[in-house]
Amino acid sequence: MMRMTAIERMAENTDMSHAILARMTEENPDHEALKKAGKILREGGLVAFPTETVYGLGGDALNPESSKKIYAAKGRPSDNPLIIHIADRESLLPLVQEVPAAAERLMDAYWPGPLTMIFRKSEIVPYETTGGLDTVAVRFPNNRIACEMIREAGGYVAAPSANTSGRPSPTLASHVEEDLGDKIDMILDGGQVEIGLESTIVDFTEETPVILRPGFLNQQMLEEVLAEVRMDPGLESENVHVRPKAPGMRYRHYAPKAKLAIVQGKQENVFARIRQLVDEGLEQGAKIGVICTEESRAEYPKGEVRCIGSRADDRTIARHLFEILRDFDSADVDRIYTESFDTPHMGQAIMNRLIKAAGHEIIDADTE
Ligand code: TXA
Ligand code: MG
Repeated sequence: MMRMTAIERMAENTDMSHAILARMTEENPDHEALKKAGKILREGGLVAFPTETVYGLGGDALNPESSKKIYAAKGRPSDNPLIIHIADRESLLPLVQEVPAAAERLMDAYWPGPLTMIFRKSEIVPYETTGGLDTVAVRFPNNRIACEMIREAGGYVAAPSANTSGRPSPTLASHVEEDLGDKIDMILDGGQVEIGLESTIVDFTEETPVILRPGFLNQQMLEEVLAEVRMDPGLESENVHVRPKAPGMRYRHYAPKAKLAIVQGKQENVFARIRQLVDEGLEQGAKIGVICTEESRAEYPKGEVRCIGSRADDRTIARHLFEILRDFDSADVDRIYTESFDTPHMGQAIMNRLIKAAGHEIIDADTE
């Protein structure tokens, strides 16, 4: 612990091009480091921070120059809007033109939490933050480190996920370090995130609320609160001609360096097909990765096998997905085969990310 602090101090004093690191827990936040983060943000700098979903790359949401810096650091197209993070409900009002009653109900149920809502924006929100749109995405995260930092920064922090554009979202501070360590001012290390997939996005700018991105909160959980909510038709993988409404959902995302394919079908057929694909790859001299669960670990004797979590608790699968994709990048595998995860709670969100990472490469184990 002591040694780490000394190294962090060294990084701060001697290597100005590298981000300052501050490690803390939600139970024991480092108030001094959070003050410093707030100052950096108010002065137009960039700070990465933990949330319950994934790490965010924060800048002052009301400062157009900060938003420009965020796009540059991530290498992200500037027409892909950022989410504004707030640390109390009242902060929402100055950002938006109106808050529909249905949105109020959703906030009552799920804020603070893994929920982003889209409204018509007010004058104070710069177009640099909304990617030129007249609408704004807002989220109140459920993480003490994030909320204290937001308050110290003046209340409004624009933050996309803190990864290089196109890479898996970061679920550990070391992922942020890897992608952005030499491009930003500070990284708040709060350990591994709780959920591991980005927030659910609900758009309130249309007649009926629309889910633009599935997350920890699934359609059924939203329907328990809203009379009606529909899924953006652009998200259905069959609808290849309909563009998703959220600009970020249109890009190829989370792409590992290796070719990734999802194998689906009856359980026994999936096990057998993945074993066969591993054997074929090994015969060709390739390095083959396999993503399995605790339940299926024993089915795969060969290959670089990684256990993603347990089907009995699909939150464990969600939490490790991005980490495993990054691990395979460092392991330099040529191909990855994964089981499919149509689990009840988070299956929709997991498969949304996995299908993108696989570039829609799906193998049906029940045919042939
Ligand atoms: O969990 C999360 O939401 C994380 C943490 C850091 O809060 N943030 C995150 O941000 O995932 P990002 O930028 O990686 O994803 C934001 C998504 C993008 O797909 C973007 O296109 C969409 O939200 N979005 C933002 N504002 C929008 C708007 N006004 N209309 C439609 N889509 C919007
Ligand atoms: Mg992202």
